[in-house]
Amino acid sequence: MKLLLCLTFVAAAQAAIVPAVDASGHFHPTIPNDTQPEGKNHTINGVLTYVSLPKGEFDPTTAVLFLTDVFGLPNLDNLLLADQWAAAGFQTYAPDYLNGDALPPDGNVTAWAVNHGEAQTTPPLLAVIKALKDQGIKQLAATGYCFGGLYITRLVQNNTITVGTMAHPSNLNVPTDFQLMKEVSHIPIEINNAQLDTGFTPALAEETDTVMGDGQYKPGYFRRQFDGVGHGFAVTANASDPVAVAAKQGAFDTSLAWIKAHLK
Ligand SMILES: *[C@@H]1O[C@H](CO)[C@@H](O)[C@H](O)[C@H]1NC(C)=O
Ligand SMILES: *[C@@H]1O[C@H](CO)[C@@H](O)[C@H](O)[C@H]1NC(C)=O
Ligand SMILES: *[C@@H]1O[C@H](CO)[C@@H](O)[C@H](O)[C@H]1NC(C)=O
Ligand SMILES: *[C@@H]1O[C@H](CO)[C@@H](O)[C@H](O)[C@H]1NC(C)=O
Ligand SMILES: *[C@@H]1O[C@H](CO)[C@@H](O)[C@H](O)[C@H]1NC(C)=O
Repeated sequence: MKLLLCLTFVAAAQAAIVPAVDASGHFHPTIPNDTQPEGKNHTINGVLTYVSLPKGEFDPTTAVLFLTDVFGLPNLDNLLLADQWAAAGFQTYAPDYLNGDALPPDGNVTAWAVNHGEAQTTPPLLAVIKALKDQGIKQLAATGYCFGGLYITRLVQNNTITVGTMAHPSNLNVPTDFQLMKEVSHIPIEINNAQLDTGFTPALAEETDTVMGDGQYKPGYFRRQFDGVGHGFAVTANASDPVAVAAKQGAFDTSLAWIKAHLK
């Protein structure tokens, strides 16, 4: 009896929803005035979507689905990062799955989250995915940041995409979401995490490895930790801090390599 209680306690202590990191926990840069996004906003199946296309030729049957953080399309860093995916050769789509209600830079994420659960977020996301598939996109590589990490997790669990990557994810359950992934998914997944993240901490990242690592996740799993940076590092970097700049680029390069390795 005593042992049973103890085991229950241990299990409960280990399964945790990764907390969303408050707006103040993100680094907000001063973006130079002259930086303009290259893409355009379109309405796709009723959903505002930022679309960035490569300048040269690209494979029309493959696309990157870009899932933003809580700051959404109003955050220029998100648009510029989507442009970076386009510059790497992929038509890139960032749906406004925040329903026109992105968190302001000084917003209260706890209060905001009440209206941004899966019930509100999933329908616009799936509406855009459906439209992309209907337009002939056969391979969808999805990349998600912070808030987007949960939806990458769901799209992997639901076998909706071809390959997934996420950076400093929030709101997912460690380890149960990864245990489910291992049971039901055939989609390869990569994670970039930050040493100083207070949400998806290195401890949670290591716990994820115990489920997914060492070849346990057959479709493919890779995790890379970036030291000296915190939550949000893959989206926004302090341009005067070489560690932050290198980590942001490193996360992009790692995700890009993963995606390229898993597309046909
Ligand atoms: C643009 O630059 C000017 C001059 O440096 C500055 O006063 C202004 O605040 C900047 N605007 C934005 C939106 O950054
Ligand atoms: C796209 O729409 C978002 C949300 O309304 C806006 O903040 C952003 O500036 C727009 N981007 C472009 C390139 O028009
Ligand atoms: C944020 O919102 C939550 C829930 O509405 C509230 O309990 C909390 O006090 C707020 N935090 C701040 C810093 O205003
Ligand atoms: C994934 O599938 C579950 C179970 O059918 C569903 O509740 C959820 O909305 C789906 N999520 C996404 C993002 O596809
Ligand atoms: C950006 O990095 C520089 C160099 O490390 C540092 O002096 C500055 O305080 C940082 N800015 C912010 C807002 O963290």
